[in-house]
Amino acid sequence: MPAPAPWSISDAIPADAAELVALDQRNFPHEDWFDRRLWRRILGEQAARGQMLTLVARQQGTVVGAIVGEFRPRAGRLLVWSIAVDVPLRGSGLAQQLTAELLQRTPAIYHQVGLDVRRDNVRARRFYERLGFHPVREIPSGYADGTDAIRYQVSLDELRHALGSPGPND
Ligand SMILES: CC(C)(COP(=O)(O)OP(=O)(O)OC[C@H]1O[C@@H](n2cnc3c(N)ncnc32)[C@H](O)[C@@H]1OP(=O)(O)O)[C@@H](O)C(=O)NCCC(=O)NCCS
Repeated sequence: MPAPAPWSISDAIPADAAELVALDQRNFPHEDWFDRRLWRRILGEQAARGQMLTLVARQQGTVVGAIVGEFRPRAGRLLVWSIAVDVPLRGSGLAQQLTAELLQRTPAIYHQVGLDVRRDNVRARRFYERLGFHPVREIPSGYADGTDAIRYQVSLDELRHALGSPGPND
């Protein structure tokens, strides 16, 4: 029998806002932190409307990773706002699993996934590229500190295939 996963993944709730602020602070440059008010909006009214979905990974009760997606039904697009995994769990497969869980929660009307990444974020770019994301646009000074943003995109089918993840109706 395979060993149980050393983490558990579940839907984030408004009470997780403080832990998500701390996760941001550990894993992102200052300019990219979401403040507690923004987290509470994402986890509260936007989640209730089905516009945003945040999944958190916990180890012994502590948040060690998270992914945030925004559903844009008219465009059929899922936008990944943020993914973060604490340093000790990088390279463990948790980032892929968070991505796979978000996809499993994505209804069949969605056909494309997009996200922005800092040009100099080599590790994240390699993570996305391995999953089939490809750069479609550069946004000069797209980040508050003047760093360029690279917009990446992938079809949901390709991403599911890369993750070995079944579709929502499979
Ligand atoms: C982005 C993130 C979630 C990816 O998770 P991860 O566990 O690091 O992903 P992986 O271990 O699969 O590594 C991704 C790639 O980077 C490579 N890598 C490992 N260590 C690296 C390092 N120090 N520098 C650059 N690349 C590195 C891996 O070998 C892998 O490349 P491969 O596809 O050739 O094997 C994680 O790195 C993270 O939380 N980063 C900080 C927050 C962040 O930048 N989020 C993304 C914002 S857009």
